[in-house]
Amino acid sequence: MATIQHDVVNRLGRNFSALTSWIDERFPMTKLIKEHATEYYASKNFNFWYGFGVLATVVLVLQIVTGILLTMNYKPSAAEAFASVEYIMRDVDWGWLIRYLHSTGASAFFIVVYLHMFRAMMYGSYKKPRELIWLIGMAIYLCMMAEGFFGYLLPWGNMSYWGAQVIVSLFGAVPVIGEGLAEWIRGDFYISDITLNRFFAFHVIAVPLMLVLLVVVHIMALHEVGSNNPDGIEIKERKGPDGVPLDGVAFHPYHTTKDLVIILVFAILFSAVVFFAPEMGGYFLEHANFDPANTLQTPEHIAPVWYFTPFYAILRAVPNKLLGVVLMGLAVVLPIFLPWLDRCKVKSIRYRGWIFKVALWTFVFSFLFLGYLGLQPVSDTFTMLARVFTFTYFSFFVLMPFYTSWEKPKPVPDRVT
Ligand code: HEM
Repeated sequence: MATIQHDVVNRLGRNFSALTSWIDERFPMTKLIKEHATEYYASKNFNFWYGFGVLATVVLVLQIVTGILLTMNYKPSAAEAFASVEYIMRDVDWGWLIRYLHSTGASAFFIVVYLHMFRAMMYGSYKKPRELIWLIGMAIYLCMMAEGFFGYLLPWGNMSYWGAQVIVSLFGAVPVIGEGLAEWIRGDFYISDITLNRFFAFHVIAVPLMLVLLVVVHIMALHEVGSNNPDGIEIKERKGPDGVPLDGVAFHPYHTTKDLVIILVFAILFSAVVFFAPEMGGYFLEHANFDPANTLQTPEHIAPVWYFTPFYAILRAVPNKLLGVVLMGLAVVLPIFLPWLDRCKVKSIRYRGWIFKVALWTFVFSFLFLGYLGLQPVSDTFTMLARVFTFTYFSFFVLMPFYTSWEKPKPVPDRVT
């Protein structure tokens, strides 16, 4: 019996290697696996912050798969969209689960990516030689914002409708061409069936294609220079006689095993939200969106979804509409310039001076507080606070060349800790 089993296993093994050689002669499969997994050496001191890139990839795949399934029953027309979503929720087999996975996935995507970006800021991952990874990341972030914005109109709820109305009308603030521009984006004089159709096209095909392409390029750029690490030390500078970095371990199996644990923990937390609090008290699915779009009645209080509210708070903090739009746009794109604004020689926060630590935490606090303010109805106190935090938010970037030149970093060790 044992000999028969042994024989079968041997034969399967031989067939498998014959198949891989057949493919390798026609496509560099083994070469790619080696380059990007089994012989891609990443620092051995990765902590949990290094799991968010993988989580972002997992959520991206989840969004694409659930998105495809939703599209099978969704109707992109003003007359039918809202009812088709209700149909998915009530009548389609497992439709409620697919929709909640997708709507919760949208918020999870932003949580994961904000933490991923924060990690890069903590450990100076945007600095030389990883500037391009950061720039591609920012392009991904802009696409994600577009994706979230287009997707939000699709259920054709009242907040979808008025949210899109407010944001598109912001383009009207552009001098001379503003009104024409807003009309061009809508394809109509107001948000209509035509707008819904084009937003659907962008949400389901154009932007996801861009996202997938950018993520592939993001990872290719990362693997060209190699990952940074919590110490901000270039592990490629110290290699053993075999050419392998002394502080590196193969991505597969060492990091993939760790990543699997991170994915499992994420899946548990994510499922808890999907099954027990999919609306998240109105933060993930806003209450006004349970009413169909009504062109004659605005929701009591219009606010975008939480991941846009820091920027929305900046917009509302400025009395002049055009200046508000400009500052809001600047707040979104300013991080692009981080690799050149940061003059410190040291990458990781572990070895940087106190000034950067204070600046980074002030920035994080400003961002979070602006996010909170953007969700609240307007009041004098909140507007004043939003102005203060808008000021601190911008100061982080504008003053960076100065305080990063003044700070006194600690000596960086030769090897990772
Ligand atoms: C769909 C969204 C994204 C996906 C799927 C993604 C994926 C990844 C993956 C798999 C890694 C390697 C693992 C890791 O270091 O965590 C990585 C690294 C990196 N990503 Fe992203 N990313 C995304 C968005 C972004 C954004 C928005 C930024 C910044 C604006 C960014 C900046 C970086 C940087 C700087 C690194 C190198 C980090 C280091 O080596 O320390 N990524 N990304």
